[in-house]
Amino acid sequence: MDSKSIFDRRLIHAFLGLSALGAVLLALALLLAKSAFADEGHDFVGYQKCKTCHQKEAIGNQFGVWLESRHAKAYETLGTEKAKKWGAEAGVDNPQTDDRCIKCHSTAHGVPNERVSNKFDRTAGVQCESCHGAGKDYRKKKIMMDREKAIAKGLIIPTAELCTGCHNDESPAWDEKAYTLADGSTSGFDFEQAVKKIAHPIPEGYDPAATGEAD
Ligand code: HEC
Ligand code: HEC
Ligand code: HEC
Ligand code: HEC
Repeated sequence: MDSKSIFDRRLIHAFLGLSALGAVLLALALLLAKSAFADEGHDFVGYQKCKTCHQKEAIGNQFGVWLESRHAKAYETLGTEKAKKWGAEAGVDNPQTDDRCIKCHSTAHGVPNERVSNKFDRTAGVQCESCHGAGKDYRKKKIMMDREKAIAKGLIIPTAELCTGCHNDESPAWDEKAYTLADGSTSGFDFEQAVKKIAHPIPEGYDPAATGEAD
């Protein structure tokens, strides 16, 4: 065998190795693209878990604010007369069990039970994890206090795109004129105004180290 053909063979091997790597990366990309609402493969714990820390006044009681919001009642809403009427118009018998409605009115829709905690309540509407990502891997205080670490473990800081995954014209409640913009035009959704309506900030001056919270 001359040295040239060995060289050729090495090239062929290198090429095959690279294509195999490419195929694996492509498969991985497709898998990630398929996950619903960007849970990125993390497991869901349910609002009750977030509540243990986020119900305290010192941190801003995000739980209490959410509980009073329409997101917390989104599943209940599917049992109303209005929902039944809209359901009937869309050929839906029971909005509370039909994918075509619950996909936007609940959390972890389509995620199998093995990936949600036993206490997870599928009737609790649009919960924390619909917007902040599945929480099993970031819910510990030490991680929560480090934004970068928390994001690496699945925490989502919501953007407009996350909201418009549900706030769009596929919803029978969609109203093109729901929001008036600064230039006087109207829109079915406006991130800036909508976020203000659901605001649940951490008060300025909150010191996570001072609360003596157990991890
Ligand atoms: C063990 C207590 C604890 C639990 C449980 C917990 N958190 Fe937190 N979380 C905190 C603390 C403390 C902070 C504030 C960190 C800081 O100010 O540095 C925080 C901050 C946050 C932030 C703001 C992050 C940022 O960088 O802006 C979000 C969003 C959040 N938590 C959501 C959740 C959600 C959703 C859950 C449930 C899946 C949850 N948390 C569970 C303690 C907790
Ligand atoms: C998983 C789907 C889903 C996501 C994601 C979502 N929402 Fe909603 N939102 C709903 C549903 C469903 C309702 C209506 C609940 C009801 O009335 O029972 C609602 C209601 C609201 C309302 C009250 C109605 C109104 O228009 O005044 C506001 C404000 C709102 N959402 C803002 C937001 C913002 C801001 C985001 C992103 C940070 C967001 N939502 C993300 C499903 C979602
Ligand atoms: C693409 C996501 C999406 C789908 C699919 C969806 N909804 Fe909704 N629904 C929303 C959002 C977002 C709101 C809040 C809109 C607002 O008021 O700003 C809402 C609000 C509602 C409301 C409250 C309206 C009010 O003003 O009182 C009812 C009732 C409702 N939806 C019924 C249904 C029914 C029934 C289905 C299935 C046939 C359905 N939705 C499918 C996203 C969706
Ligand atoms: C409909 C979407 C939505 C839901 C549901 C939701 N959040 Fe948020 N959350 C947001 C948005 C949007 C922000 C603002 C992010 C920013 O400041 O850019 C936010 C901010 C926060 C912050 C940081 C506040 C700050 O001042 O930095 C905490 C903590 C938090 N959420 C916790 C929770 C908890 C706990 C729940 C459930 C009890 C919850 N959120 C439910 C959308 C949501």
